Amino acid sequence: MTNSIRLLVGCASLILGLALYGGAAAGPLDAPGYAKAFSCSACHGFAGASAADTVPVLAGMPSWYLKKAIQDYASGKRPAAEMESYSKMVLELGVDDVAAYFAGQKKQPTPVKADPAAVARGKAASTQCVVCHGPEGKGDPAKGIPDLTGQPPGYLKNQMLLFKADRRSPGDETLKALKALMRTIPDEAFGDLAAYYSSLR
Ligand code: HEC
Ligand code: HEC
Repeated sequence: MTNSIRLLVGCASLILGLALYGGAAAGPLDAPGYAKAFSCSACHGFAGASAADTVPVLAGMPSWYLKKAIQDYASGKRPAAEMESYSKMVLELGVDDVAAYFAGQKKQPTPVKADPAAVARGKAASTQCVVCHGPEGKGDPAKGIPDLTGQPPGYLKNQMLLFKADRRSPGDETLKALKALMRTIPDEAFGDLAAYYSSLR
């Protein structure tokens, strides 16, 4: 596609997305996925390939995890100013279509480069994370544990700080062990762990 065609398609999708959001019943124009996900690209990059250090990559994200995150933002469990209204919009539009759209995109690891010395320190510290996130950081859907690989380092670090302060899903019993572990880790080490997981492919 040329850029101008892509722009036209984009605008048409935005209008379609807004029309659907306007409360129209699902009909023949209800092309799932792309149209509903269009507004996300302003922050998450085209087709979810975020280039920003603090905005997570959605391209290739498994649908179970994207759905959980959207539900957590919408219910206020995960307070995030940027995601509050968008998560509610996604639930209204149909989270399954949006999740399927991003899961169907080829994963695009962050272009943000991690400092090799930080990666090496993070690798040494990551032995504490392997029990849940696995030896390659890919997580375990059966246990609700996400893939950390290729996410931007700034985003990963922020989430660790939020867990440590119990500001992400406060009081959630299932995350007790994770948060207890985060409290034993000095803030300076979060940058190293983030650099390491971000560098994995
Ligand atoms: C205004 C910018 C912005 C827009 C628009 C936006 N997001 Fe986000 N999104 C963010 C930021 C920033 C975060 C990280 C927030 C945090 O600290 O938890 C995030 C986090 C997420 C996460 C969590 C990922 C993870 O690894 O836990 C998902 C899923 C997500 N967004 C999906 C979407 C979808 C789907 C849309 C479109 C309907 C969207 N976002 C629109 C900025 C945005
Ligand atoms: C006891 C199991 C457990 C251990 C140990 C653990 N995690 Fe996690 N981690 C989880 C679970 C479960 C989630 C998903 C939480 C949710 O659904 O909100 C998660 C989420 C994360 C996230 C957020 C990912 C995203 O996309 O938003 C980061 C970052 C993270 N863990 C880093 C680490 C690091 C680094 C370590 C080691 C220092 C670690 N975790 C150890 C279970 C664990």
